[in-house]
Amino acid sequence: MNLSREILRSEAEIAERVRQLGRQITTDLEGKEMAVLGILKGSFVFVADLIRQIRLPVQIGFLEISHSEKSEFLTEILFYSNFKVEGTNLLVVEDILDTGITLAYLTEQLAAKGPKSIRICTFLDKPERRKVDIQPDYVGFPVPNKHVVGYGLDFQGRFRNLPYLTYME
Ligand code: IMP
Ligand code: MG
Repeated sequence: MNLSREILRSEAEIAERVRQLGRQITTDLEGKEMAVLGILKGSFVFVADLIRQIRLPVQIGFLEISHSEKSEFLTEILFYSNFKVEGTNLLVVEDILDTGITLAYLTEQLAAKGPKSIRICTFLDKPERRKVDIQPDYVGFPVPNKHVVGYGLDFQGRFRNLPYLTYME
């Protein structure tokens, strides 16, 4: 597979959308104690930009998930940074919502830790590929059913550092 020359979303378009999301989250969570939990590795670029557009005090944490080779339905938490979930209004931040399996599993695990609320913010959404019913609260952009890369998203570990969004072809 090769990197396409077509730019799906430019650096400027992404920056503008992230500003809008930050504004919306700030309005929705005004006056609430808020915690942002980024799912590694893909979301780290988005988290870094998004939190700087949220005008509220926020706690930040990260966790990493492993996907089993045996079944797409087998996932587990690999790494969990020191982070309090109990009593907070949690914003789970993902790079892309694809089948929904990762986020369905995670929200179930996190709900057991007693947060006041859980919201999902995903940079990208591929609704065509959904296998489990999960509704994100905030979506950066919908994307077509292609393997997208850039702005944190990879193909075989590469291209996370591209500042724009493109795809493999
Ligand atoms: P899920 O299928 O919704 O569980 O998504 C699992 C994970 O697959 C996402 O968090 C991404 O890390 C990865 N992923 C899914 N689609 C893409 C893509 O188009 N590009 C890069 N990573 C992807
Ligand atoms: Mg991921």
